[in-house]
Amino acid sequence: MSKFEELHQEALAKIHEAQNSKDLNDLRVYYLGKKGPVQSLMKNMKDLPKEEKPLFGKKVNELKQKLSVLIDEKREELAEQEMQAKIESEKIDITLPGRSCKTGNLHPLTLVNQELEDLFIGLGYQVIEGPDITDDEYCFERANIPKDHPARAMQDSLYIDENRLLRTHTTAIQMDVLEKSAPNLPIKVVCPGKVYRRDDDDATHSHQFMQMEGLVVGQNVTLSDLKGTLEFLAKKMFGQSRQIRFRPSYFPFTEPSVEVDVSCHICDGKGCPTCKGTGWIEILGAGEVHPNVLKMAGYDPDTCSGFAFGVGIERIAMLKYGIDDIRHFYTNDQRFSWTFKRFE
Ligand code: DAH
Repeated sequence: MSKFEELHQEALAKIHEAQNSKDLNDLRVYYLGKKGPVQSLMKNMKDLPKEEKPLFGKKVNELKQKLSVLIDEKREELAEQEMQAKIESEKIDITLPGRSCKTGNLHPLTLVNQELEDLFIGLGYQVIEGPDITDDEYCFERANIPKDHPARAMQDSLYIDENRLLRTHTTAIQMDVLEKSAPNLPIKVVCPGKVYRRDDDDATHSHQFMQMEGLVVGQNVTLSDLKGTLEFLAKKMFGQSRQIRFRPSYFPFTEPSVEVDVSCHICDGKGCPTCKGTGWIEILGAGEVHPNVLKMAGYDPDTCSGFAFGVGIERIAMLKYGIDDIRHFYTNDQRFSWTFKRFE
């Protein structure tokens, strides 16, 4: 009988000490399995007097039963401990501030360009692009700027060879569109793109900047159509209370030509440093397409007419967002770029 007790105490101690469910399982296999010490007690039964056998058998079963209960209890205890340890190791402090993940955002020039494109698409225009490298013919000749014309001095150009150059204005795309469309009407396009000039960079000049050209040709397209369109543009870009005015001007490819001012969105036209006290800010050049331009593209200026305008994207962006130096657009300082995240 003392053997029982010995075995019981030994198993009890070992089960108690088991550190994990694997150890415990090994103990279960050992003590309750067929080759274990409890089972081998049974072998002694045959040497016992007959009357002691039932009691002996009962004791063996009781011991098995007790050990089995102990192991089950210990298993639950270990499972609980293991679960607690897992919870502990996977604990997340949800009160910690999150790690900020810096994502990019659209460049302010892209923002303004997209806004303008959306506005004109809404008015039924097509967006057409053209090559940055063009030739003398499309940049100047077809824009009614002949070789000896003083207007050529207006823009110092970056020539690649005698004939080819980086376009100095998106008007070059306008000439290409006109030629390709002839004789079909109407034409309603905006042409955004980079333009290049031989200029020294400063706060208001850049050797490379962006323009958007607008062109509408059809029957009886008048200056008042242009005015309505540009007023719509001014209100969309600078607020519903904006007004525009036309000032007579000169461009070789338009006749008449105008310079377009918008009432100052900073002071509401009262006069401030942004509008240099005048209440008005110049935003773009425009006019009725010159008959020569129509003729060169293959249209008859007696049966159709059109308007065109050219707007500087940087200029609009600088006015809209209060940017005081055009070079900010190109120096890739992220402190500048990130400012525009909220406008996306
Ligand atoms: N091409 C002119 C420039 O670069 C802008 C311009 C003015 C375009 C009047 C036009 C226009 O289409 O009608 O300064």
